[in-house]
Amino acid sequence: MNAAPSTLQALPRVAHPLPLFVQQYQENSELICAELIGGLQAPEAILSPKFLYDRLGSKLFEAITELPEYYLTRTEGWILQAHSQDIANSIGTGCTFIDLGAGNCEKAAHLFEGLRPKQYVAIDISVEYLRTNLARLNHQWPTIPMLGLGADFSSKLELVSTVCSSKRVFFYPGSSIGNFSIEQAGLILQQLASQAGEDGWLLIGMDLVKNSAALQAAYDDPLQVTAAFNRNILLNVNRLLGADFVLSHFKHVAVFNQQFSRIEMYLQALQETTVRWSALGSGIRYFRRGERIHTENSYKYSFKGAEELLNNNGFSIAHYWFDPHKLFCVFLAKVRVN
Ligand SMILES: C[S@@+](CC[C@H](N)C(=O)[O-])C[C@H]1O[C@@H](n2cnc3c(N)ncnc32)[C@H](O)[C@@H]1O
Repeated sequence: MNAAPSTLQALPRVAHPLPLFVQQYQENSELICAELIGGLQAPEAILSPKFLYDRLGSKLFEAITELPEYYLTRTEGWILQAHSQDIANSIGTGCTFIDLGAGNCEKAAHLFEGLRPKQYVAIDISVEYLRTNLARLNHQWPTIPMLGLGADFSSKLELVSTVCSSKRVFFYPGSSIGNFSIEQAGLILQQLASQAGEDGWLLIGMDLVKNSAALQAAYDDPLQVTAAFNRNILLNVNRLLGADFVLSHFKHVAVFNQQFSRIEMYLQALQETTVRWSALGSGIRYFRRGERIHTENSYKYSFKGAEELLNNNGFSIAHYWFDPHKLFCVFLAKVRVN
């Protein structure tokens, strides 16, 4: 008889094949350069918040989520964990769980035990960051088939044919829907409803209107991590366009616009500065001192506003959950079949 194996030898050898990964988003495409240049040359310069997220931007965002002032991630995480069983009871097991802007995939992982999805599809524009995090998650949950999609879904979500078509559940956490205007958000939801199919669901987190001091602090922390996150967009643009933004020429500004119920983030020129780029035949943009580049909006919803957004764009709310202070709300909505 063989001697009993040591504890280490006795560990089961589980194979962890890397998750499938499809990269649709190509950083060096003409389309992306044209979008960036169009924004820089606009009379009021603007860069889409999606360009905040390159590998460093994603890591800086992760640091933001640790800040005491940034209540969003921990509050939504609390709601999801506190109600994971209710969520699983409503949806049932065996869904196709599609995480929009998955980031480090942590929030989705909180729901795996209850949902036991038949496939997890993680989508993010921050391609390398997603690859790394999905590989780690795949190692932790080797029995859940996983697919990574490096994609920009802001104008169109193109799901590849390997995404299972039955019982699709779109998971859209982080109040990221708030980065879009109400009209754009409506179009995105309509697209999700049509791609989810008749047995589809949406699980979405939305940040609620609250006093402006709390909102302002969440987007302008004293450690200036959010400032670094915001200014990193210029490093990303330098890389994508071959541009020469000098980061110290711009400061981070975050204001709560009561009229539009949104946080607005800007980079404001501290001095006159001229930026040049080499992409698409080269170009130049002069900034006056005090001139701003608009980098992000983050709409804050009333409960009624959130309800209307979902109800008017293809979904019927089945459940919703708040945190004890009603800072944040997670909605579970079913695709409405007409
Ligand atoms: C606010 S973070 C939320 C991350 C994570 N889901 C969470 O809730 O903690 C937004 C995420 O969406 C991704 N993202 C932003 N715009 C995107 C776009 N247009 N297409 C795909 N992913 C996008 C970012 O890279 C980032 O990971």
